[in-house]
Amino acid sequence: MQDTPAEPVDQLELFRSSDLRIHNPQGGDWLHQLFFRGAAQTEEAVRTDGLFMLTLWFSVFFFVLLMGLMFYWVIKYRRRPGVPAPVSASHNGPLEIFWTVVPSSGLLVIFLLGFQGYMAKIVAPTNALTLNVTGLKWDWIITYPNGARSGYSTALGTKDSVKIFVLPEDTDVKLLMQSRDVIHAFWVPDYRTKIDLYPNRLTSHTFRTEKLREGEEYRDHWIFCAEYCGDQHSEMYGIFRVVSKDVYENVLDDWSTGNLSPVELGQVVFRNNCISCHSIDGSPNIGPTWLNAYGYERAISGGTSVLVDENYVRESILNPQAKVVAGYEGKIMTAFAGILSDDEINGVIAYYKTLSDKGPAPDEETEEDPANSEPPEGGE
Ligand code: CUA
Repeated sequence: MQDTPAEPVDQLELFRSSDLRIHNPQGGDWLHQLFFRGAAQTEEAVRTDGLFMLTLWFSVFFFVLLMGLMFYWVIKYRRRPGVPAPVSASHNGPLEIFWTVVPSSGLLVIFLLGFQGYMAKIVAPTNALTLNVTGLKWDWIITYPNGARSGYSTALGTKDSVKIFVLPEDTDVKLLMQSRDVIHAFWVPDYRTKIDLYPNRLTSHTFRTEKLREGEEYRDHWIFCAEYCGDQHSEMYGIFRVVSKDVYENVLDDWSTGNLSPVELGQVVFRNNCISCHSIDGSPNIGPTWLNAYGYERAISGGTSVLVDENYVRESILNPQAKVVAGYEGKIMTAFAGILSDDEINGVIAYYKTLSDKGPAPDEETEEDPANSEPPEGGE
């Protein structure tokens, strides 16, 4: 009995908690708080803040010095009636060298520290955990080394859902990033990192996750898109949840889609990719509901109609603009060609069919193993 199966389940519950623990103690003095709302969460981020403050004080020092001297001399040497203007000094070698070399060496220090910080965020240690990040209108997809995709969506507030991506604590992480459409920027304010994603080029960005404190179960960090990419730019957010290495392994096992039935796989894909735009209970959303869609005739844009069958669903996943349901013309959906595998698409189709009263009877799906008929890992 050393191996209690209950433990991983508890850890997964923990991971799925919708209780966001954004660890944001106000760090530093009022000036620091003015620029950074929360304290830096990694050593590298602390250095970034330090460099920012150095640059700021460097600028403040020279601004005050130069403006002060200017006003002092403007007043001291102002034109007075009856006093002829003195001839300006033409040249002073030592003075000019002094006021060139001193500020320049300050700038050089700022450059060297900035270069060091940039390299630290760009060059990953060879053993770093590499995650593939895809940005698309309007979502983040993260693929883990075991093939697991994305995160767990949980409710945030009353209506929105937020995707949670898990990270192991105290680990070097390298993000290999690409966009599927326009330029996005992956921004984790707590880590002070913000790197652009381009459609035809990989960019990378690396950081070392922090160590959790004794007894701390997890720590959350906001992810934002920092490049205006369209009308739902502000919806491109997510959470990095830093957990212990054990929990991380368990979550990845849970996400691994290796031995799921097609319907279960479809549910996982739905949860990770489709849930933000499509409902399964008939309620209105950005895209058409999946409830009672399969097997029905649907009016599509252009005045014709189409029978919603497997091929229609497949086509709509791969090329959403091919046949748009009437009334949804303006809504843009991501083309999933190249994102979802054939297995995953078939899983979505299988799941989609179970949501329609014209789909297979429910017992057809669960007959084989009634003990396992519960939806996997806490679905909706
Ligand atoms: Cu993606 Cu803004």
